[in-house]
Amino acid sequence: MEKVLILDFGGQYNQLIARRVRECNVYCEVKPYTMTLEEIKAFAPIGIIFTGGPNSVYLADAPHVDPAVFKLGVPVLGICYGCQLMAHHLGGQVTAAQEDTAREYGKTETFYDTSCPLFQELPEQGVSWMSHGDYMAKVPEGFQLVGHTAACPNVAIADEDRGFYGVQFHPEVNHTQQGTAMLHNFLYRVCGAKGEWTMGDYKTREIARIREKVKGGKVLLALSGGVDSSVAAALLAEAVGSQLTCVFVDHGLMRKNEGDEVEAAFSKWDINFVRVNAEARFLEKLAGVSDPERKRKIIGEEFIRVFEDEAKRIGKVDFLVQGTIYPDVIESGKGDAAVIKSHHNVGGLPDYVDFQEIIEPLRMLFKDEVRQLGRELELPEYLVMRQPFPGPGLAIRVIGEITKDKLDILRDADFIFRDEIAKANLESTMNQYFAVLTNIRSVGVMGDGRTYDYTLALRSVTTSDFMTADWARIPYDVLDKVSVRIVNEVPHINRIVYDITSKPPATIEWE
Ligand code: XMP
Repeated sequence: MEKVLILDFGGQYNQLIARRVRECNVYCEVKPYTMTLEEIKAFAPIGIIFTGGPNSVYLADAPHVDPAVFKLGVPVLGICYGCQLMAHHLGGQVTAAQEDTAREYGKTETFYDTSCPLFQELPEQGVSWMSHGDYMAKVPEGFQLVGHTAACPNVAIADEDRGFYGVQFHPEVNHTQQGTAMLHNFLYRVCGAKGEWTMGDYKTREIARIREKVKGGKVLLALSGGVDSSVAAALLAEAVGSQLTCVFVDHGLMRKNEGDEVEAAFSKWDINFVRVNAEARFLEKLAGVSDPERKRKIIGEEFIRVFEDEAKRIGKVDFLVQGTIYPDVIESGKGDAAVIKSHHNVGGLPDYVDFQEIIEPLRMLFKDEVRQLGRELELPEYLVMRQPFPGPGLAIRVIGEITKDKLDILRDADFIFRDEIAKANLESTMNQYFAVLTNIRSVGVMGDGRTYDYTLALRSVTTSDFMTADWARIPYDVLDKVSVRIVNEVPHINRIVYDITSKPPATIEWE
């Protein structure tokens, strides 16, 4: 299959470049810039993209590539630092921009030469996103200037004969108008891509690969109900059917109907689906505990115990499936994150489960692609689009001590909130939204009587990475509907508040 190589020089947007390329139906991988020439040849890319990065190419410790990469006859697109690196190696000159010349940050009006393949059939002018303090004082021989801004005469360069292109701006970010179209041009007009990367094909190939590997072996998968483990399970179910055992530990801390939904989604496959109803075990261990970190620890440990009991019952398995996805692999920087993640994902599972090998069928996929694959496998949309849900579940959304009654109150209220968000068609405008049962009780009046009941908090955030987040601007009339329905339909809640703090200073969850 045709592949593009993305050489990573440490820029902030490297994963975004890869996602954009894949959106153009071309497979790509992000590899560290230290990849050797032999490794690059073996990878056999149809094109190479050098990413941006925080360094200055003229400094002693700046990252470089083997210059022989320019002799492979493979087209290269350099972005920001990658553009400067290419200029530096091919006889140009890069210097620090002076105050009055070409240092540029943020949105910049840019002019393009639309006879250049990179900009063909695109507007001659548009906003691009810049972030560079260095500047090409001299453009290498053989290159044409194909883009400029008011401050900088050379924000895009091209050597069409050799297929080398460089841009100072970031085509991968949304702020660059037509940025994806430029990448598309590079892939299709310069590299001659055919667009062989689709999730339908991936499904077919991956199923064949899994069958080849597993043969008659036994496969074990810990299913959480989250998107990644559900899609991994569906793929394995399709590939090896009854050789697969999915263990779904139902800790009783799921949202309303969630456990049944997960079970129903997998009923169409002939697999061994084990739902361990461990609610009583978990609630017993959590009784009287109100410290959030203690709750997390208890749940983590109990999860391992339950799984261990189940694994003993199942006996020896040959393969253990992990739902590791590509961003985790890239972030490890080495492309060998398997061991670290297997412990991280399922709380140390491989330590006590007796198995030969790990299978990671989503290891090369971005989250959007995992969802797409889920659709190819005909998983229901509510599973494929499920928002992130913390491992400890509702235990950290019932503030203070947990009881079954409180969990049920929260489940009903949270369900109404999600239902109204769906009815208002707002799901895609927010990244995580849920209800929290606080341990505050306050006085209210219902009918002619006094009430003394719980305060429920609603939380909804927009975020791209969950490291920082803003509170979602839900229309007042939607909040009003949610509030009226919850106090009317859910006993023991008489007051609703909406959380209007960003992260930081707050966190997304309350505990
Ligand atoms: P915070 O509350 O730290 O949450 O802003 C960031 C993201 O992480 C999720 N989260 C957890 N996920 N185990 C998990 O698997 C946990 O203990 C946990 N705590 C928070 C949270 O839902 C949000 O998506």
